[in-house]
Amino acid sequence: MEQVIAISGTPGTGKTAVGTLLAQQLHTEVIELGQVVKEQQFHYGKDVERGTLIANIENLQDYLSKRIQQTEELLIVIGHFADLVPKEFLKVLVVLRCHPVTLTQRLSNRQWSSKKIVENIQAEILGECTSQSLVNHDYNRIFEIDTTDSTIEEVVACFQKILSGEGDQFTVGKISWLSILDPQLIHEIMEEKKLPSSSQKA
Ligand SMILES: Nc1ncnc2c1ncn2[C@@H]1O[C@H](COP(=O)(O)OP(=O)(O)O)[C@@H](O)[C@H]1O
Ligand SMILES: [Mg+2]
Repeated sequence: MEQVIAISGTPGTGKTAVGTLLAQQLHTEVIELGQVVKEQQFHYGKDVERGTLIANIENLQDYLSKRIQQTEELLIVIGHFADLVPKEFLKVLVVLRCHPVTLTQRLSNRQWSSKKIVENIQAEILGECTSQSLVNHDYNRIFEIDTTDSTIEEVVACFQKILSGEGDQFTVGKISWLSILDPQLIHEIMEEKKLPSSSQKA
């Protein structure tokens, strides 16, 4: 049964904020994969340098399949691993995107090392969550929303459009930071020399 709305995206793109509001509107349960990894101890220990847990993906995927099969209700699955939802249960997979300059600002509120922030900015520039989603799912189930200049309410309204079959403007592949950022800036970010500043928003 195609009952899962999966929300993926680089940390800071708004998955938790948007997913929580969407769940309130749809009266559905939310599964936050990051929390499941912690609570169920689906990890191999800590990545000390990054301050994150090294997830045991196999355990996480088994658990997720079982949880989904226990219900026939709509479910929202949130996480940058949200593409782990088995194909047969997926209604839509939405990847939230955010301009690297704005994402840097959002992540600077977390007590993260600049190295960890740069890694995530790199991942956003390269569209890693989108690419990973395309490995595991049909492209016509995948959508992308640019959250950069939208409120959380506006992003949720985009979800409602997608869910009602009016998601043409959000089909996968339309968002590319590579095509709008200064190549010199991309070079510096990729070399981990530098984070973009607000004056560099193209
Ligand atoms: N559309 C948005 N506009 C402005 N700020 C946002 C938006 N979405 C999320 N935020 C803010 O950005 C930060 C990261 O959001 P969060 O939902 O925690 O992201 P994620 O769960 O993807 O890591 C939070 O402070 C949140 O309030
Ligand atoms: Mg979150």
